[in-house]
Amino acid sequence: MLNRRRLLALGAATGGAMLLPFTKSAPAGAKGDEPLRKDYLLGNRTARTVRPAIAPFTTQMPVSTVLQPAQSGGVDIYTIPIRAANAQILPGVQTPVLTYGGQFVGPTIRAKTGRRVKVIYQNRLDMPANVHLHGGHVPATSDGHPMDVIQPGQARVYDYPNTQQGATLWYHDHSHHMEAEHVYRGLHGMYVIEDDSEQSLRLPSGAYDVPILLRDAEFDANGALVFSDPANRTTILANGKVQPFFPVAARKYRIRLLNASNEHVFQLNLGGATMTKIASDGGLLPAPVQVTELALASAERVEVVIDFSRYAIGTKLVLSNGSDPVLRFDVVRQAADSSRVPAQLRALPALPAATVVRDVAMSFDLSGTDPVGMINGKAFDPNRVDFQIKRGSTEIWNIINAETFPLDHTFHLHLEQFRVLERNGGAPLPQDAGLKDTVLVPPGGSVKIQATFRDFLGKYMYHCHFLEHSSIGMMGQMEIIP
Ligand code: C2O
Ligand code: CU
Ligand code: CU
Repeated sequence: MLNRRRLLALGAATGGAMLLPFTKSAPAGAKGDEPLRKDYLLGNRTARTVRPAIAPFTTQMPVSTVLQPAQSGGVDIYTIPIRAANAQILPGVQTPVLTYGGQFVGPTIRAKTGRRVKVIYQNRLDMPANVHLHGGHVPATSDGHPMDVIQPGQARVYDYPNTQQGATLWYHDHSHHMEAEHVYRGLHGMYVIEDDSEQSLRLPSGAYDVPILLRDAEFDANGALVFSDPANRTTILANGKVQPFFPVAARKYRIRLLNASNEHVFQLNLGGATMTKIASDGGLLPAPVQVTELALASAERVEVVIDFSRYAIGTKLVLSNGSDPVLRFDVVRQAADSSRVPAQLRALPALPAATVVRDVAMSFDLSGTDPVGMINGKAFDPNRVDFQIKRGSTEIWNIINAETFPLDHTFHLHLEQFRVLERNGGAPLPQDAGLKDTVLVPPGGSVKIQATFRDFLGKYMYHCHFLEHSSIGMMGQMEIIP
């Protein structure tokens, strides 16, 4: 069948992708299965595309605009159109993208614990879309359930209570079968929650608190984004630019890193220099940790403080993924610094005793023509509830990557942050520390997590956050019941 995706793939192969508007409505039955052919999953991954030849460190890294809210009755109100746009990702080239608010990395929302946010999203695409606040503790009606979409021409209010502690969250599309392509084409942005007790710690703030959205991409010869084999996404973007530089003062910075790639595990380093890790997905760690490497899988966040006062003016520090340069910090000026990194940050909440234990096994069914993603042997069915969970209960989930071939999965739980208790039956890894909502599970591996389902009722998702996997079925539905 020559569906929209196959058309797009043909267009990309002939360099004509830009002639085909990807905002065309998907024909009924179109599935997000184009990028994941069986041979790809089984490891036949010959990279097809060369990276765009761009002189490194010639573009300055932008920091996404912080949206200014309209305010009424103690609520911050934002309006964000979801629309197609052109973005300058490669120097001098206009790349067609999908955006929140016209920006390829959507605008940043800065929320405060205890203060409600309402976002009015207007869908100006010609296909359904929606918005999920990843890491958010929100009512089911505002969670962006895959079937709960905004139709073209319609608007929808999402209501975020912000009852959780400070954390680096992000927002992205979650529309059924389309989330992988939508996020890949740009429907991603950051949402930062700050709380008062965090502010009293005097961590670097204001202009010295910098969110950086990292993701991978593949471009064709015309500079259009190619949505195909994930292995070909060899170009890494930092806030939407290829190998940008970022001028910094010789002082401490709080850097919030998000891996917004559909499927990529980053191994970030500053060329051996130490960074002070202060937070993971769900907010601050109990105490800072000195690190030289940061493993960051798709959808994970990590916050570090980097002290550039250790370097002379003129020093250039490259943040790399393995040996691949991603971004360069250029120390360009002196600046006063009254910030600090206290020895104690925030204690983790107590772990109540768990009353339910479940297995959650992620795998592919490769027996048919197209691969099918599964959890516990079943592909996602929005009409089926997989787990019923009693409100107030604490559960232990044993997350298993059941593949017999080398393919990573990441596990993501909506609604609540969890703690990693064990990895492969032993101690967790450093990147498992703190409050987490997403965790990497390598093939054959297992991760034991614990979560408490505190208050909200209704249907929420859990899934592999390699979005090409979730969009073809590697997703389950839980219902929190009274
Ligand atoms: Cu980041 Cu269900 O998603
Ligand atoms: Cu989520
Ligand atoms: Cu997966």
